[in-house]
Amino acid sequence: MRILSLTFAGLMLAVATMPAAEKPSAEHVKMMKDLGAQMGAIRKSVDVAKNAAAMEETMKAVTKYWASKSDAAKKACADSTAGAAAAAKAGDDKAALGAAMKMVGAGCKGCHDAHREKVSDTEYLIK
Ligand code: HEC
Repeated sequence: MRILSLTFAGLMLAVATMPAAEKPSAEHVKMMKDLGAQMGAIRKSVDVAKNAAAMEETMKAVTKYWASKSDAAKKACADSTAGAAAAAKAGDDKAALGAAMKMVGAGCKGCHDAHREKVSDTEYLIK
C-alpha cells in the first residue's frame, strides 16, 4: 500500500512538473494572425505607416498578455513593439524601415523560439 501511494505521488509530481504545451486562447491566435497580416502587408509595402501603427497596437495587447511570463517573452515584446513604432515613423526612409523591421522580426523570432511549439503548418501551441 505504501509503495502504491508512493508510486502515485511520484506520478502526480511527474505530471505537475512536465513542461506542458498548451492550446492558445482564441484571443492569442487572433493577435498572432493580425501580426502576421500586418507583417505581410509591410513587407509588400502596402500601407506601411498604417500597418506599422496597427502592429504597435497589437503588440501592446501581446505585451499585456505575456506580462511577467518569461524574460524571453518580455524582451521579444519590447523589441517588436519598439520596431513597429520606428517603422510607423520611417516614412520614405527605406534604411530606417529596414532597421525597424529587423527589430520587429527579432522579437517575433525570439518569442517563437522560446514559446511556440509547431504541431502542423496551421496549428501551434504555447510552451
Ligand atoms: C511574446 C511572444 C510572441 C511574440 C512577441 C510574437 N509571437 Fe507569434 N506566436 C507566439 C506563440 C506562443 C504562438 C503559438 C500559439 C498561437 O498560435 O497563438 C505564435 C503564433 C504565431 C502565428 C501562427 C498563428 C496561428 O495559429 O495560425 C503567427 C502567424 C505569428 N505568431 C506571427 C507573429 C509575428 C509576425 C510576430 C512579430 C511581429 C509575432 N508573432 C510575435 C508568441 C509570440
